[in-house]
Amino acid sequence: MPKFSPKKLIMPYFVVEGSNKKEPVPNMPGVARLSVDNLCNDVEEAKRLGINRVLIFGVCPSGSKDKFGSYGYAKNSIVSKAIAELKRKIKGIFIITDVCLCAYTSSGHCGILTKDNKIDSKRTLDALSKIALAHAASGADWVAPSAMAKKEVFAIRKALDKNGFREVQILGYSAKFFSNFYGPFRQALDSAPKFGDRGAYQLNYDDKRKALKEIGDDIKEGADMVMVKPALCYLDIIRDARMRFGRPLAAYNTSGEYAFVKMGAKIGLWQEKEVVFEIIASIKRAGADFIITYHAKDIAKWLKGI
Ligand code: PBG
Ligand code: ZN
Repeated sequence: MPKFSPKKLIMPYFVVEGSNKKEPVPNMPGVARLSVDNLCNDVEEAKRLGINRVLIFGVCPSGSKDKFGSYGYAKNSIVSKAIAELKRKIKGIFIITDVCLCAYTSSGHCGILTKDNKIDSKRTLDALSKIALAHAASGADWVAPSAMAKKEVFAIRKALDKNGFREVQILGYSAKFFSNFYGPFRQALDSAPKFGDRGAYQLNYDDKRKALKEIGDDIKEGADMVMVKPALCYLDIIRDARMRFGRPLAAYNTSGEYAFVKMGAKIGLWQEKEVVFEIIASIKRAGADFIITYHAKDIAKWLKGI
């Protein structure tokens, strides 16, 4: 068993409106979209296992999507409710929220689009800032902009400072690649683009220089922690970022990477626990300080021998 602390793990959650909801996510065995009551129970269990950081994603209620993704910053959005309840019920829980538009826009894109379907930078930064402010006002500790919109970290830092949230920190999804490994996540959040793809704003996997530049830019813009995503095809980027930058570094072991492990285990290719430990060890070896992974609770249980 590898030496590993559950304090280095961040558990992602999908939260839905309603009560007593636990909707299994297709292709992510063991992961469900939870209503706030069930979310609190699950996070409490994670906390008992030694995991004290969670990353929250909101599922948009049906009929609430629009061109501008305005549900994202609606008063009492599902994310805001989740943050407030978690903070009320679970002492010492550290909450990170995903700040993006793709779950809330009718287009399924991570930004607001112009008439000719390009990202409208000003409107997008404005909406992302409003989402970050709404989450901060509800009690989020960190906000994590993931739209890959130019200058999003800068815009959000400015908005937070101006509105009295200097203590809220920013985790940049700095090197987020245009990847095949996000499929199940988009099913969970119903956030796949309705037309086109994310090639115009996510990074090309051939372009290592650009990836490192994006990380450096996020740091200059004020990111407190940076991220590489996905993890497994990008261990070299994690390594280079570790060598080059002094900021805390997170790696996102994505939904597709999770599904891959689960499917392999299901057809008898490998033992889930053994594969997960090998994967986690590789990400840690590459230099990540934190690992965002849907396996987090399982890992913590295995470490405790449960
Ligand atoms: C989008 C976003 C994505 C993930 C988190 N936020 C990817 C995408 O749809 O392009 C992926 C997470 C995962 O696959 O686990 N802002
Ligand atoms: Zn997005």
